[in-house]
Amino acid sequence: MKGLLLAGGHGTRLRPLTLTGNKHMLPIANKPMILYGLEHLMNAGVRDIGVVLGPIKEGVKELLGDGSKFGVRISYIDQPEPKGLAHAILISKGFLGDEPFVMYLGDNLLKQGAKPFLEAFEGGSSDCVVGAARVRDPSRYGVVVFDERGRVKRFVEKPKEPISDWALIGVYVFNHRIFDAIGRIRPSWRGELEITDAIQTLLKSGAKVDCRFVEGWWKDTGRPEDLLEANQLVLGEMDLRIEGEVEPGARITGNVGIGEGTKVREGAAIRGPAIIGRGCEIGPNAYIGPYTSIGDGAIVRNSEIENSIVMGGAEIDCGRRIVDSLIGSRAKVLSQERNLPKGLKLILGDMTYVGV
Ligand code: DAU
Repeated sequence: MKGLLLAGGHGTRLRPLTLTGNKHMLPIANKPMILYGLEHLMNAGVRDIGVVLGPIKEGVKELLGDGSKFGVRISYIDQPEPKGLAHAILISKGFLGDEPFVMYLGDNLLKQGAKPFLEAFEGGSSDCVVGAARVRDPSRYGVVVFDERGRVKRFVEKPKEPISDWALIGVYVFNHRIFDAIGRIRPSWRGELEITDAIQTLLKSGAKVDCRFVEGWWKDTGRPEDLLEANQLVLGEMDLRIEGEVEPGARITGNVGIGEGTKVREGAAIRGPAIIGRGCEIGPNAYIGPYTSIGDGAIVRNSEIENSIVMGGAEIDCGRRIVDSLIGSRAKVLSQERNLPKGLKLILGDMTYVGV
């Protein structure tokens, strides 16, 4: 079975972080988000993968290459404008042919991965398998409506009325019948060919659509707070190791990863779960609190930071406590003050400078 990994779109809700790079390259627990999707496809046995890219391609091709370093084959499919998930399938027809395929949305993270959905498709006689998870805010998603006997009744994209709290997650398995369904839908109010509309058309045409419930957590990383939550979920499950140098007098507690070449200075404290990349400088006078990821080459001095993502090469030396924040690569948060008053909340793009 072939795989389609979607990494197009503009990532507008994550600006300014996505102004200078592809959203799917943003790190979750120090790993570009797109690698989680790629690994899920690989773990499900998919070896031939098409990656859909929009105008912002930065880093993705360099990271994935032709797939050989991951033991898979990667082809790139150009989608100049984000005209919708169904449009992404349509333009991938040449790559997909008539074989069944699994589509994975590159901004989704899923504890159980894609394998159960492929197995459900391969072990059954469905034309399509989708996944659903219960959510508090269904109007942000495509939803599946069930009838009184629990059978799939209808699919609706971003419903205004509360018709179901079962959201469609970003893993879909299709056979060739989806192409015919896509051919019969029209762009939605947001100008996109919606995959949910195509699945509804498929269902109405008499095709068999199977819906599986997600086990474990699932996260769509559309907004900054979603990135932080995804970071928490992944860090909470990682098995981390200390490879860098921890000076005597530095305190490390809980599950903490420290990359090669990183120095944690005397007096610094790190409380896990937290991950520090390679070649970082932590301290003096630094506290890294739970659910924080610090990218390669970053510096944290005279500051406290908790529940945040700090990207590679960033520098924080501000005499304050930073919480629930996303700090872009090579951003600087600097200050002359050395006291630690109350929390700052920041969402900073790449190379931003903040003087406080
Ligand atoms: O996360 C699950 C949700 O994903 C589903 O519940 C919705 O039914 C589905 O429409 C989708 O909703 P979003 O509004 O969250 O989709 P978004 O525009 O964020 O795009 C999802 C992924 O697909 C993201 O990784 C970017 C990529 N993409 C998106 C579009 C519109 C493309 O590669 N090409 C596109 O044209």
